[in-house]
Order: sequence, then structure tokens, then C-alpha cells
Amino acid sequence: MKRYFIKTFGCQMNVADSEEMAGVLQARGYLPAPRPEEADVIVVNTCTIRRKAEEKGYSELGRYCGLKRRRGGVVVVAAGCAAGKDGRRLLSRLPQVDLVVGPSRVRRLGELLDGHTPGGELHLDLDPAHYPGAGEVPVRAGRVTAYVSIVRGCDNFCSYCVVPHVRGREVSRPPGEVEEEVRRLAGEGYGEITLLGQNVNSYGRGLDPPVTFPQLLERLDRNTGIRRLRFTTSHPRDFGPDLAAAVADLPSVCEWVHLPLQSGSDRVLAAMNRGYTRTYYLDLVEDLRRRVPGIAVSTDLIVGHPGEEEEDFRQTVETMRRLHFSGVFAFKFSPREGTAAAALPDSVPAGEKERRLAEVLALQREITLEQHRRMVGGLVEVLVEGPGKAGEGELTGRTRGNTVVHFRGDPTLTGRTVSLRVTRACAHSLGAEIPSG
Ligand code: 5AD
Ligand code: SF4
Repeated sequence: MKRYFIKTFGCQMNVADSEEMAGVLQARGYLPAPRPEEADVIVVNTCTIRRKAEEKGYSELGRYCGLKRRRGGVVVVAAGCAAGKDGRRLLSRLPQVDLVVGPSRVRRLGELLDGHTPGGELHLDLDPAHYPGAGEVPVRAGRVTAYVSIVRGCDNFCSYCVVPHVRGREVSRPPGEVEEEVRRLAGEGYGEITLLGQNVNSYGRGLDPPVTFPQLLERLDRNTGIRRLRFTTSHPRDFGPDLAAAVADLPSVCEWVHLPLQSGSDRVLAAMNRGYTRTYYLDLVEDLRRRVPGIAVSTDLIVGHPGEEEEDFRQTVETMRRLHFSGVFAFKFSPREGTAAAALPDSVPAGEKERRLAEVLALQREITLEQHRRMVGGLVEVLVEGPGKAGEGELTGRTRGNTVVHFRGDPTLTGRTVSLRVTRACAHSLGAEIPSG
């Protein structure tokens, strides 16, 4: 019996791609291996969004190449975004790699493996166009929540971003196919589906007949029986009033949006080619909060984009103070080959990027803690995802606003939606208990 092991880096899209690869492998009779040492096929699904993310994937690949040298007979697969970008170049660093599969081609992993003998010639499939046809049923990592990808690729070309270069042009999945998958997952007992795309708001362009993202949400809400729907990532420029109305009106759609701001400075936003201004973004969030009281808005920020001056950075900080995001993912600008920003002088010194990053992280920590403190004593609705990392009878789940909640309870509650009393505020989660009586 052959076994596989997949290690995943990067975003939820990569997690979903790894689940597809697991599906492809299981359809060919492979079983999951608990550890890479026991696997016949080892896949590293790499990321290249920032240099650090890429390095992590490559050092993991290096480890598995070492394993192959010691054990032989192992097939090492470099998959995903860094692999797709570097292709054959990757071999100068990692000559033991057997297969290189770009992020748009993960479904082809099975065919590539069929044509490969361990120790044989290297195979590459790097075409950035998407592999047509239905894939195998993905093997989901969890049993309560699942990702469903609805748009692959990206047409935006933000100055800093390598994604359109490695994942290719935007392609939407037909709505009937998405509906069928969500209905099946709901039938299997999944409580929450997160719809994935680099820019879900542009879903449906290019489909015949064209469909909009709010129309897709309405269809899924009406026809699938799923309890909770989320989606990520939203591009503020494409987040129209019809989507705000869908979030407000459709019962299954959670009161949470991830809306990357990237910068609070109009000058930097223009340099980033984001297509909106700070005022536009403020109005959008205000409108959302008016229509959907209590909605949680989280964001991504980049500090130290080329040309970002101290006063631009202050605008970002000021926007954070004004909007009180529920969560912030902040990153130091990292120049990526082939992007517009990489052609500009990397003008903000490393130490200064570090200082700016530390400031936004510290500020957001305060903001989130304060929001969490205000929730203590109140009730929250939690979808229970299963045992927490702390063990000892601890369960974990999330609110509709996407806040992680830990509490003690019976593991049979997994998959159920429960009402809990908040007892403790932490920087990244809430502590809660089952209310007595
Ligand atoms: N440098 C730093 N951060 C980046 N991101 C994307 N590209 C870069 C880059 N070159 C961040 C953006 C994006 C998130 C997924 O990663 O904030 O929203
Ligand atoms: Fe990383 Fe971007 Fe690829 Fe996701 S799409 S894995 S963030 S490079």
C-alpha cells in the first residue's frame, strides 16, 4: 500500500489545492501517512507571496530531499506557487526533486505520478492556465468547516503582488458546480463553508451566462441547506452595494468580511494600483456597518511599500484607530520578481519596516483586546470545530464574526452550534463556558 504526505504553506487557496491533491492521490489508492518518513510520495505545496514564505517551503523541500537520499524510492513533489514560479530553476538548489507542479495544475498530479518512476527523469507542469474538467473529490482536513474555491487566478496586478504572475488569469467555476459541492458538504454534516478566490467579488465575469457574486451567494443560501457561509478575499474596489445587501439579508452569510486595505495613504494606494482611496474605503466600511450592525471587518496591511514616507504610514495607523478592525494581518513589503513594485527602489530601510510593523501589530493587539473585553459576560453563537490544542476537555470553535472561542465541553458537541457565555478576553481568542441553567 502506497502512502502520501503533504505539507502546505501559504494561504487558504493552497490549503484547498492540497485537499485536491489528497483527493487525486486517494483516488489512485494512496493512503495518508502520519509522518513524511513513512510516505512514498511527499508533496510540499509552496508559497511565494513574500520571500520568507518561499524560503520556508524550500527548506522543507530540502529536508525531504535529504530523506530521499537516505531512503531512496521516495518521490518528492514541489507543488504550488514558488514551484510554479521557479520551475526548472529550483533544481539547482534541490536536484532530488522528482516533479514540479504549478498551482494551476495540481489536479494533474496523478497523471504526472503515473508517468514517473522513482529516480527517473524530472517532470514539470507549469502552465499557468487552469486545467479543465472536474477533479477528484477533495479530501477535507476538517469535518465541520470546509473551503470551496470559486475563482482561480487574479486579474488585478497590484504593484507588489506576485499572485497574477504565478496563478494566471481569473477563471470562475460555474455556479451549478459550486452549488452541488456546497449541497453535498452540507448533507455530509459540514456546518460552514468558506468560498475562496483571490478576489471573490469579481466572481462570474466571463461565465456564460454571466453571474455576479451576490447572485451566487443567494443561490447557495436558498438551495444548499448550509448553516454558515463565508468568503475571502474581497477587493474593496469591487465590493458593491448588492454584496453589502446580500451580507445583510441572507441568513447563512456570516457577519464578517475580510477587506484588505493595504495602506491608509492615497499616495501609496495609487502606487499600489489598488483602484480606491482612503475615503472610499472608509465609506464602504461605514455603509457595511450601517446595513449589518456588529459586522466584523478584518484587513491586510503592508508597511514599507516603495515610496512610503512616515506621513503615509501615519495615515495607515490613523485609519486603524478610526475603523477598529477585528483583526489585522500586517506584512513588511517584500520585493517579488516580475512585479511593478520590484522595479522601484526598495526605499524603506529594513529597520524602519520592522518598526512600522511592530507599531501596527501592537496597536491592533490593543484594539482586539479591548473589543474582546467588551464581549465578556455576553453570549456568543459558536460553531464547534472540535477539540482544542490545549487538550484536557477543551473544545474550540468560531463565532459568526470569525473570533476563535475556547471552552470546556463534551467532544460530541463537535459540529453543533452552541450559545456560550464569554468569560475571558485574550489577544487572539475568547474563553467561554456553557451557560448554566
Ligand atoms: N510584500 C508584502 N506583503 C505582501 N502581500 C502580498 N504581496 C506582498 C509583498 N510583496 C500581502 C498583502 C496581501 C496578503 C495576502 O499578503 O497584504 O493581501
Ligand atoms: Fe502564497 Fe499567494 Fe500562492 Fe497563496 S496564492 S500560496 S499566498 S503565493
